[in-house]
Amino acid sequence: MKLLITGGVGFIGSNFVRYMLQNYPEYEVVNLDALTYAGNLENLKGLENNPNYTFVKADITDRATVETLFKKENFDTVVNFAAESHVDRSINNPDVFVSTNIMGTQVLLDTAKKYGIQKYVQVSTDEVYGSLGGDGSFTENTPIAPNSPYSASKASADLLVRSYYKTYNFPINITRCSNNYGPYQFPEKLIPLMLNNVRENRPIPIYGDGQNVRDWIYVEDHSRAVDRVLHDGIPGEIYNIGSNNEHSNLEMAKMLLNLMDAPESLITFVPDRKGHDFRYAIDASKIRNELGWEAEYSFETGLKETVNWYLNNLDWLNHVVSGDYRNYYKTYYSR
Ligand code: NAD
Ligand code: TYD
Repeated sequence: MKLLITGGVGFIGSNFVRYMLQNYPEYEVVNLDALTYAGNLENLKGLENNPNYTFVKADITDRATVETLFKKENFDTVVNFAAESHVDRSINNPDVFVSTNIMGTQVLLDTAKKYGIQKYVQVSTDEVYGSLGGDGSFTENTPIAPNSPYSASKASADLLVRSYYKTYNFPINITRCSNNYGPYQFPEKLIPLMLNNVRENRPIPIYGDGQNVRDWIYVEDHSRAVDRVLHDGIPGEIYNIGSNNEHSNLEMAKMLLNLMDAPESLITFVPDRKGHDFRYAIDASKIRNELGWEAEYSFETGLKETVNWYLNNLDWLNHVVSGDYRNYYKTYYSR
């Protein structure tokens, strides 16, 4: 298989690149990424000389460059992770979310269709469904009702992807996963942000009253789910991905502090996020029943592994926090 992964330098994409190269040594993987602030090539350290792996610095909105790459490489499958992904940034600057998440997706769809791609997987999010109250969970039939510019841009992309199936019979799948955590996550997201603040003995900011609930999944479980969909997803189908790990942000903060032997007094309540979705929860029975996928990590095990990973990779963390990670491209790829 010759696979194009876009956004494969970010958090989930880089975990997926590593996962695919490890589990399918006969596959060729090309990773296209624009290296925005979220693209950290140190996430892929060690793969530079892998003969089955190629990195291409490019923007998915750049139609000419994308087309040249498809013409040259003869891909058979595409997995699109490339996106602006942070809700808080989307509140302050929605423009780039529309450009990358919607228009970039359309460029990929057009080009993939033109070059006869056999499977296109759009990596989406449960946030397209909007917010839940105290009970219930999202199924694939829950109407989309996004609330942030981020989730609205992802939902728009999902609709475009769906339309390419309905209109052109182009073989797509859409995956909608809950909140990921694990190695290589940029510390603007809740778990690595807390972890980094705790190790520096700084307060951890909790929005509002901390009662908002997220449904956490370990990133490796997400990679295995995308693998299942890529290989066996029925064209045109949407698959929810989640592992039944609902926790309020406050509960989660306390678990993390406990694991790191840090005092709960570090918790600091700060003004709430605008339009803050109250609760996400995923019903993943479709992917379990139809594709035989099952999460392997409990939240306790995954969180422990995550804390250990960050504490064992302080160079990585320090480079991200200082901005030094942006020099990696110059060192390794600008020759
Ligand atoms: P991330 O922000 O860590 O990584 C995004 C990557 O995309 C970066 O490497 C960035 O350089 C690249 N990128 C951004 N704009 C680009 C462009 N115009 N062209 C090419 N590359 C570009 O994001 P993440 O958390 O790894 O999320 C990956 C995907 O998974 C996103 O589509 C996101 O919506 C989705 N998702 C994320 C979560 C989560 O909890 N993080 C949950 C469900 C779905
Ligand atoms: P985040 O990691 O940004 O993911 P998302 O908004 O996509 O779910 O946030 C997870 C939850 O944590 C969300 O309810 C917002 C909250 N949060 C805080 O309380 N403090 C923070 O500093 C951040 C970044 C998030």
